[in-house]
Amino acid sequence: MNILVVLGSPRKKGNSETLVNTVIEGIKEAMQCSVDSVYLHGLQDYHPCKGCGGCEKTGMCVIKDDMIELYEKADKADIIFLVTPVYFYGPSAQMKIFIDRFQARWSRKYLLKQRVRQEDQRKGYLLATAATKGPKVFDACELIAKSYFDTVDVEYGGKFVVRSVDEKKALSNTPEELDKARQFGRDIAATFS
Ligand SMILES: Cc1cc2nc3c(=O)[nH]c(=O)nc-3n(C[C@H](O)[C@H](O)[C@H](O)COP(=O)(O)O)c2cc1C
Repeated sequence: MNILVVLGSPRKKGNSETLVNTVIEGIKEAMQCSVDSVYLHGLQDYHPCKGCGGCEKTGMCVIKDDMIELYEKADKADIIFLVTPVYFYGPSAQMKIFIDRFQARWSRKYLLKQRVRQEDQRKGYLLATAATKGPKVFDACELIAKSYFDTVDVEYGGKFVVRSVDEKKALSNTPEELDKARQFGRDIAATFS
C-alpha cells in the first residue's frame, strides 16, 4: 500500500504534521504500507498554474518543475492525504498551488477523455487544523479537497479535522484528539483489508 502525504503547512512539526503522523501510526498498527511525504514549502522549483490552457491540448502541464515528480507520486499512491492548516478559511497557498496544478489532469479527464488510474480502489482524505472553533472553518478546505480527489479519480474517504489548535505544539498536548486521530488511521486500514 503506497501512501502519499502532501504537507501544506510551511511550519514544520506543527499541528497538521502531528495530525498526519498520528493517523499514519494508526494505519501502521493495522497494515503494512510505505509512506512518501512531500513538504511543499521545501520545494525549490514550484510554481502556480498560470492558466495558459496548454494542458487542454496535451493533458500535460507546460511548466516543467518539481510538480512533474509529484504527478507521478500521486499516480502511484493508493491513499493520498491532503494535510493543511486553515489559512483564511481555505488551505495554505502551498497546498492550493499543488491542487491547482492538477488542472492538467482535469483537462486530461474532461476534455481529452483520458484517465490515468480509475479501475482500482484508491482513497483520499483531508486532514486539517485551525485555531478557531467556527462550524464552517473547514468547509472550503473540504470542498476543494473533494474537487481535487474527483479530478484524480480518487474516492473521497472523509476528513479528520481539529479545531482550537494554534500554537505549534497545541495538538501534541491534546492526547484525546491524538487518540481519535490514531483510531481514524486504524479505521482507514480496516477499509483496505
Ligand atoms: C496566514 C494564517 C492564516 C490563518 N487563518 C486561519 C483561519 O482563517 N481560521 C482559523 O481558525 N485559523 C487560522 N490560522 C491558524 C492556523 O490554521 C492554525 O494555527 C493551525 O493549527 C496551524 O497548523 P500548522 O501548525 O500545521 O501550521 C491561520 C494561520 C495563519 C499563519
